[in-house]
Amino acid sequence: MNITTLGQFIIEKQNDFPYAKGELSRLLRDIGIAAKMISREVNKAGLTHILGDHGSVNVQGEDVKKLDIIGNETFIWALSRGGEVCMMASEENDEVIPLEGEFSKNGNYVICIDPLDGSSNIDVNVSIGTIFSIYRRISPAGTNPTLADALQAGNQLVAAGYVVYGTSTMLVFSTGKGVNAFTLDPSIGEFCLSQSMVQTPKSGSIYSINEGNAAEFPEGIKQYLSWAKEKNSEEKRPLTARYIGSMVADFHRNLLKGGVFIYPPTAKSPNGKLRLMFEGIPMAYICEQAGGKATNGKGQSILDIEPETLHQRVPVIMGSLNMVEKVEAFLG
Ligand code: AHG
Ligand code: MN
Ligand code: MN
Repeated sequence: MNITTLGQFIIEKQNDFPYAKGELSRLLRDIGIAAKMISREVNKAGLTHILGDHGSVNVQGEDVKKLDIIGNETFIWALSRGGEVCMMASEENDEVIPLEGEFSKNGNYVICIDPLDGSSNIDVNVSIGTIFSIYRRISPAGTNPTLADALQAGNQLVAAGYVVYGTSTMLVFSTGKGVNAFTLDPSIGEFCLSQSMVQTPKSGSIYSINEGNAAEFPEGIKQYLSWAKEKNSEEKRPLTARYIGSMVADFHRNLLKGGVFIYPPTAKSPNGKLRLMFEGIPMAYICEQAGGKATNGKGQSILDIEPETLHQRVPVIMGSLNMVEKVEAFLG
Protein backbone atom coordinates (compact mmCIF):
# COMPACT_ATOMS: atom_id res chain seq x y z
CA MET A 1 0.00 0.00 0.00
CA ASN A 2 1.41 3.35 -0.96
CA ILE A 3 -0.45 5.86 1.19
CA THR A 4 1.00 8.90 2.94
CA THR A 5 -1.25 10.41 5.58
CA LEU A 6 -1.16 14.12 6.43
CA GLY A 7 0.47 13.27 9.77
CA GLN A 8 3.22 11.23 8.11
CA PHE A 9 3.77 13.90 5.44
CA ILE A 10 4.17 16.65 8.03
CA ILE A 11 6.77 14.65 9.97
CA GLU A 12 8.65 13.67 6.80
CA LYS A 13 8.70 17.23 5.42
CA GLN A 14 9.26 19.18 8.57
CA ASN A 15 12.92 19.82 7.77
CA ASP A 16 11.62 22.09 5.00
CA PHE A 17 9.58 24.15 7.47
CA PRO A 18 10.82 27.55 8.57
CA TYR A 19 11.44 28.35 12.28
CA ALA A 20 10.93 25.75 15.02
CA LYS A 21 9.82 22.67 13.09
CA GLY A 22 7.69 21.04 15.78
CA GLU A 23 5.45 24.06 16.35
CA LEU A 24 4.36 24.43 12.75
CA SER A 25 3.92 20.65 12.47
CA ARG A 26 1.55 20.63 15.44
CA LEU A 27 -0.29 23.64 14.08
CA LEU A 28 -0.84 22.00 10.68
CA ARG A 29 -1.98 18.82 12.41
CA ASP A 30 -4.52 20.85 14.42
CA ILE A 31 -5.80 22.49 11.23
CA GLY A 32 -6.25 18.99 9.78
CA ILE A 33 -8.33 18.03 12.82
CA ALA A 34 -10.48 21.17 12.54
CA ALA A 35 -10.97 20.44 8.83
CA LYS A 36 -12.16 16.90 9.54
CA MET A 37 -14.61 18.16 12.13
CA ILE A 38 -16.01 20.81 9.79
CA SER A 39 -16.22 18.23 6.99
CA ARG A 40 -18.34 16.04 9.26
CA GLU A 41 -20.71 18.96 9.95
CA VAL A 42 -20.83 19.92 6.26
CA ASN A 43 -21.80 16.38 5.33
CA LYS A 44 -24.82 16.43 7.58
CA ALA A 45 -25.86 19.99 6.74
CA GLY A 46 -28.58 18.67 4.44
CA LEU A 47 -30.17 17.01 7.45
CA THR A 48 -31.16 20.32 9.04
CA HIS A 49 -34.79 19.65 8.14
CA ILE A 50 -34.59 16.58 10.30
CA LEU A 51 -32.19 17.87 12.93
CA GLY A 52 -33.71 21.37 13.14
CA ASP A 53 -33.13 24.67 11.31
CA HIS A 54 -30.47 27.25 12.18
CA GLY A 55 -31.41 29.07 15.37
CA SER A 56 -33.74 26.31 16.59
CA VAL A 57 -33.11 23.66 19.25
CA ASN A 58 -32.61 20.17 17.82
CA VAL A 59 -33.99 16.88 19.10
CA GLN A 60 -30.94 16.40 21.33
CA GLY A 61 -31.73 19.75 22.95
CA GLU A 62 -28.69 21.48 21.32
CA ASP A 63 -28.86 24.86 19.56
CA VAL A 64 -28.55 24.41 15.81
CA LYS A 65 -25.87 26.80 14.55
CA LYS A 66 -24.97 28.08 11.14
CA LEU A 67 -22.03 26.27 9.56
CA ASP A 68 -20.05 29.52 9.44
CA ILE A 69 -20.28 29.75 13.22
CA ILE A 70 -19.55 26.05 13.71
CA GLY A 71 -16.45 26.42 11.50
CA ASN A 72 -15.29 29.45 13.45
CA GLU A 73 -15.77 27.80 16.83
CA THR A 74 -14.11 24.59 15.67
CA PHE A 75 -10.97 26.47 14.65
CA ILE A 76 -10.87 28.43 17.91
CA TRP A 77 -11.23 25.18 19.84
CA ALA A 78 -8.64 23.25 17.80
CA LEU A 79 -6.05 26.03 17.89
CA SER A 80 -6.49 27.08 21.53
CA ARG A 81 -5.35 23.70 22.80
CA GLY A 82 -1.94 23.41 21.16
CA GLY A 83 -0.45 26.73 22.28
CA GLU A 84 1.17 27.48 18.91
CA VAL A 85 -1.34 30.19 17.98
CA CYS A 86 -1.70 33.39 20.00
CA MET A 87 -4.45 35.02 17.96
CA MET A 88 -6.96 34.34 15.25
CA ALA A 89 -8.68 36.68 12.81
CA SER A 90 -11.84 35.53 11.08
CA GLU A 91 -14.19 36.73 8.40
CA GLU A 92 -16.90 36.08 10.99
CA ASN A 93 -15.53 38.50 13.62
CA ASP A 94 -15.11 42.26 13.37
CA GLU A 95 -12.06 42.25 15.63
CA VAL A 96 -9.11 39.91 16.10
CA ILE A 97 -9.63 37.09 18.61
CA PRO A 98 -6.79 36.53 21.11
CA LEU A 99 -6.88 32.81 21.98
CA GLU A 100 -7.40 31.87 25.60
CA GLY A 101 -5.70 28.50 25.86
CA GLU A 102 -3.31 27.96 28.77
CA PHE A 103 -0.24 28.49 26.58
CA SER A 104 -1.72 30.67 23.82
CA LYS A 105 0.07 33.87 24.87
CA ASN A 106 3.36 32.16 24.18
CA GLY A 107 2.24 31.05 20.73
CA ASN A 108 4.35 32.35 17.86
CA TYR A 109 1.67 32.19 15.17
CA VAL A 110 -1.39 34.10 14.02
CA ILE A 111 -4.08 32.50 11.88
CA CYS A 112 -6.57 34.21 9.55
CA ILE A 113 -9.57 32.17 8.43
CA ASP A 114 -12.64 32.22 6.28
CA PRO A 115 -14.29 29.31 8.12
CA LEU A 116 -17.01 28.77 5.54
CA ASP A 117 -16.49 30.07 2.03
CA GLY A 118 -19.43 29.92 -0.35
CA SER A 119 -22.13 30.16 2.33
CA SER A 120 -24.86 30.72 -0.25
CA ASN A 121 -24.21 27.19 -1.55
CA ILE A 122 -24.65 25.37 1.77
CA ASP A 123 -28.38 24.81 1.48
CA VAL A 124 -28.25 23.66 -2.15
CA ASN A 125 -25.67 20.88 -1.82
CA VAL A 126 -22.95 22.65 -3.80
CA SER A 127 -19.22 22.66 -2.93
CA ILE A 128 -18.03 25.02 -0.21
CA GLY A 129 -14.71 25.54 1.54
CA THR A 130 -12.53 26.83 4.36
CA ILE A 131 -9.54 29.14 3.76
CA PHE A 132 -6.66 29.70 6.20
CA SER A 133 -3.38 31.57 6.38
CA ILE A 134 -0.59 31.44 8.96
CA TYR A 135 1.76 34.28 9.95
CA ARG A 136 4.56 34.50 12.45
CA ARG A 137 3.64 37.08 15.09
CA ILE A 138 5.58 40.36 15.20
CA SER A 139 5.08 41.18 18.88
CA PRO A 140 7.24 39.24 21.37
CA ALA A 141 5.93 35.87 22.58
CA GLY A 142 4.42 36.05 26.06
CA THR A 143 2.87 39.52 25.49
CA ASN A 144 -0.66 40.28 24.34
CA PRO A 145 -0.85 40.02 20.54
CA THR A 146 -2.02 43.09 18.62
CA LEU A 147 -3.84 43.85 15.38
CA ALA A 148 -0.46 44.46 13.70
CA ASP A 149 0.38 40.77 14.19
CA ALA A 150 -2.50 39.91 11.85
CA LEU A 151 -2.19 42.79 9.37
CA GLN A 152 0.80 41.42 7.47
CA ALA A 153 1.31 41.31 3.73
CA GLY A 154 1.04 37.98 1.95
CA ASN A 155 4.79 37.98 1.27
CA GLN A 156 5.24 37.37 5.02
CA LEU A 157 3.15 34.19 5.08
CA VAL A 158 4.55 31.06 6.66
CA ALA A 159 1.82 28.84 5.21
CA ALA A 160 -1.67 28.98 3.75
CA GLY A 161 -4.24 26.69 2.27
CA TYR A 162 -7.83 25.71 1.88
CA VAL A 163 -10.21 22.83 2.37
CA VAL A 164 -12.76 22.10 -0.32
CA TYR A 165 -15.85 20.14 0.70
CA GLY A 166 -16.80 18.70 -2.67
CA THR A 167 -17.37 15.25 -4.09
CA SER A 168 -14.66 14.45 -1.58
CA THR A 169 -13.06 16.64 1.08
CA MET A 170 -9.60 17.90 0.14
CA LEU A 171 -6.99 19.85 2.06
CA VAL A 172 -4.60 21.83 -0.13
CA PHE A 173 -1.76 23.79 1.44
CA SER A 174 1.70 25.19 1.04
CA THR A 175 4.47 26.05 3.47
CA GLY A 176 6.34 27.95 0.76
CA LYS A 177 7.84 24.92 -0.98
CA GLY A 178 5.12 24.05 -3.50
CA VAL A 179 1.54 22.95 -3.08
CA ASN A 180 0.38 19.56 -1.85
CA ALA A 181 -3.15 18.19 -1.89
CA PHE A 182 -4.67 15.62 0.47
CA THR A 183 -7.97 13.81 0.09
CA LEU A 184 -9.94 12.73 3.14
CA ASP A 185 -10.48 8.99 3.18
CA PRO A 186 -13.59 8.73 5.36
CA SER A 187 -13.06 5.00 5.95
CA ILE A 188 -9.88 5.65 7.95
CA GLY A 189 -10.61 9.28 8.90
CA GLU A 190 -7.29 10.49 7.48
CA PHE A 191 -6.21 13.02 4.88
CA CYS A 192 -4.06 11.08 2.38
CA LEU A 193 -1.62 12.71 -0.04
CA SER A 194 -3.31 12.69 -3.44
CA GLN A 195 -1.22 15.18 -5.47
CA SER A 196 2.25 16.36 -4.55
CA MET A 197 3.84 19.51 -5.91
CA VAL A 198 0.74 20.64 -7.78
CA GLN A 199 1.51 22.89 -10.74
CA THR A 200 -1.29 24.80 -12.42
CA PRO A 201 -1.22 24.76 -16.27
CA LYS A 202 0.34 27.90 -17.77
CA SER A 203 -2.73 28.30 -19.98
CA GLY A 204 -6.24 26.95 -19.89
CA SER A 205 -9.68 27.43 -21.32
CA ILE A 206 -11.79 28.38 -18.28
CA TYR A 207 -12.78 31.85 -17.14
CA SER A 208 -14.71 32.30 -13.90
CA ILE A 209 -16.48 35.55 -13.14
CA ASN A 210 -19.95 36.65 -12.02
CA GLU A 211 -20.89 38.07 -15.38
CA GLY A 212 -24.26 39.19 -14.06
CA ASN A 213 -22.41 42.29 -12.86
CA ALA A 214 -20.87 42.98 -16.29
CA ALA A 215 -22.55 46.35 -16.77
CA GLU A 216 -20.51 47.63 -13.82
CA PHE A 217 -17.14 46.10 -14.75
CA PRO A 218 -14.13 48.20 -15.81
CA GLU A 219 -13.89 48.63 -19.61
CA GLY A 220 -10.87 46.30 -19.86
CA ILE A 221 -12.75 43.43 -18.21
CA LYS A 222 -15.73 43.96 -20.53
CA GLN A 223 -13.38 43.82 -23.52
CA TYR A 224 -11.68 40.69 -22.19
CA LEU A 225 -15.06 38.99 -21.85
CA SER A 226 -15.97 39.86 -25.46
CA TRP A 227 -12.59 38.50 -26.59
CA ALA A 228 -13.13 35.32 -24.52
CA LYS A 229 -16.39 34.69 -26.37
CA GLU A 230 -15.11 35.35 -29.89
CA LYS A 231 -14.78 32.36 -32.18
CA ASN A 232 -11.15 31.68 -33.13
CA SER A 233 -10.37 27.99 -33.51
CA GLU A 234 -6.61 28.53 -33.83
CA GLU A 235 -6.54 30.27 -30.46
CA LYS A 236 -9.03 27.79 -28.97
CA ARG A 237 -11.73 30.37 -28.43
CA PRO A 238 -14.39 30.80 -27.26
CA LEU A 239 -13.20 30.02 -23.74
CA THR A 240 -15.40 28.07 -21.33
CA ALA A 241 -17.35 29.89 -18.60
CA ARG A 242 -17.52 28.15 -15.22
CA TYR A 243 -18.69 29.88 -12.03
CA ILE A 244 -19.86 28.14 -8.87
CA GLY A 245 -19.98 31.11 -6.50
CA SER A 246 -17.71 29.44 -3.93
CA MET A 247 -14.24 30.91 -4.46
CA VAL A 248 -12.53 27.81 -3.09
CA ALA A 249 -14.35 25.49 -5.48
CA ASP A 250 -13.93 27.78 -8.50
CA PHE A 251 -10.26 28.27 -7.70
CA HIS A 252 -9.61 24.57 -7.09
CA ARG A 253 -11.09 23.54 -10.42
CA ASN A 254 -9.10 26.19 -12.26
CA LEU A 255 -5.91 25.24 -10.40
CA LEU A 256 -6.16 21.69 -11.70
CA LYS A 257 -7.55 22.35 -15.17
CA GLY A 258 -6.08 25.75 -16.02
CA GLY A 259 -8.18 28.89 -15.88
CA VAL A 260 -8.58 32.40 -14.56
CA PHE A 261 -10.74 33.51 -11.64
CA ILE A 262 -11.78 37.15 -11.66
CA TYR A 263 -13.64 39.25 -9.10
CA PRO A 264 -13.24 42.78 -10.44
CA PRO A 265 -14.22 46.12 -8.95
CA THR A 266 -17.78 47.20 -9.65
CA ALA A 267 -19.47 50.58 -9.28
CA LYS A 268 -21.09 49.32 -6.08
CA SER A 269 -17.90 47.73 -4.68
CA PRO A 270 -14.91 49.70 -6.02
CA ASN A 271 -12.51 47.22 -4.44
CA GLY A 272 -14.44 44.13 -5.46
CA LYS A 273 -16.14 41.85 -2.99
CA LEU A 274 -13.45 39.49 -1.78
CA ARG A 275 -11.58 40.09 1.43
CA LEU A 276 -7.83 40.63 1.22
CA MET A 277 -6.91 38.90 4.49
CA PHE A 278 -9.30 35.97 4.35
CA GLU A 279 -9.66 35.20 0.65
CA GLY A 280 -7.31 37.23 -1.55
CA ILE A 281 -3.96 36.62 0.18
CA PRO A 282 -4.23 32.89 1.01
CA MET A 283 -5.56 31.95 -2.43
CA ALA A 284 -2.95 34.14 -4.15
CA TYR A 285 -0.25 32.34 -2.17
CA ILE A 286 -1.45 28.90 -3.27
CA CYS A 287 -1.80 30.18 -6.82
CA GLU A 288 1.78 31.50 -6.98
CA GLN A 289 3.19 28.45 -5.21
CA ALA A 290 1.59 26.38 -7.98
CA GLY A 291 3.22 28.49 -10.70
CA GLY A 292 0.24 30.78 -11.34
CA LYS A 293 -0.20 34.52 -10.95
CA ALA A 294 -2.46 36.63 -8.71
CA THR A 295 -2.89 40.37 -9.11
CA ASN A 296 -5.29 43.13 -8.14
CA GLY A 297 -5.56 44.27 -11.77
CA LYS A 298 -3.61 47.44 -10.99
CA GLY A 299 -0.20 45.97 -11.61
CA GLN A 300 0.30 44.79 -8.05
CA SER A 301 0.72 41.23 -6.82
CA ILE A 302 -1.90 40.50 -4.17
CA LEU A 303 0.90 39.19 -1.97
CA ASP A 304 2.61 42.61 -1.96
CA ILE A 305 -0.38 44.62 -0.74
CA GLU A 306 0.15 46.01 2.75
CA PRO A 307 -3.13 45.44 4.60
CA GLU A 308 -4.60 48.41 6.44
CA THR A 309 -7.75 46.94 7.94
CA LEU A 310 -8.83 43.41 8.75
CA HIS A 311 -11.85 43.31 6.47
CA GLN A 312 -10.60 45.35 3.52
CA ARG A 313 -11.57 44.15 0.04
CA VAL A 314 -9.41 43.54 -2.98
CA PRO A 315 -10.08 43.06 -6.71
CA VAL A 316 -8.78 39.68 -7.79
CA ILE A 317 -7.44 38.21 -11.02
CA MET A 318 -5.78 34.86 -10.35
CA GLY A 319 -4.94 31.58 -12.02
CA SER A 320 -2.90 30.35 -14.98
CA LEU A 321 -0.02 32.70 -15.74
CA ASN A 322 -0.77 33.34 -19.43
CA MET A 323 -4.47 33.83 -18.79
CA VAL A 324 -3.92 36.36 -16.00
CA GLU A 325 -1.47 38.24 -18.21
CA LYS A 326 -4.04 38.30 -21.00
CA VAL A 327 -6.61 39.92 -18.71
CA GLU A 328 -3.97 42.41 -17.54
CA ALA A 329 -3.20 43.30 -21.17
CA PHE A 330 -6.86 44.31 -21.66
CA LEU A 331 -6.73 46.40 -18.50
CA GLY A 332 -3.77 48.32 -19.94
P1 AHG B 1 -18.38 33.84 1.79
O1 AHG B 1 -19.37 32.73 1.65
O2 AHG B 1 -17.21 33.47 2.66
O3 AHG B 1 -19.00 35.14 2.20
O4 AHG B 1 -17.67 34.09 0.37
C1 AHG B 1 -18.43 34.22 -0.79
C2 AHG B 1 -17.56 34.80 -1.84
C3 AHG B 1 -16.73 33.81 -2.63
O5 AHG B 1 -16.69 32.52 -2.15
C4 AHG B 1 -17.35 33.81 -3.98
O6 AHG B 1 -16.39 33.68 -4.97
C5 AHG B 1 -18.06 35.12 -4.07
O7 AHG B 1 -18.38 35.48 -2.77
C6 AHG B 1 -19.28 35.07 -4.90
O8 AHG B 1 -19.82 36.33 -4.99
P2 AHG B 1 -21.00 36.70 -6.02
O9 AHG B 1 -22.22 36.03 -5.51
O10 AHG B 1 -21.06 38.19 -5.97
O11 AHG B 1 -20.57 36.19 -7.37
MN1 MN C 1 -15.46 33.56 1.46
MN1 MN D 1 -17.18 32.89 4.72
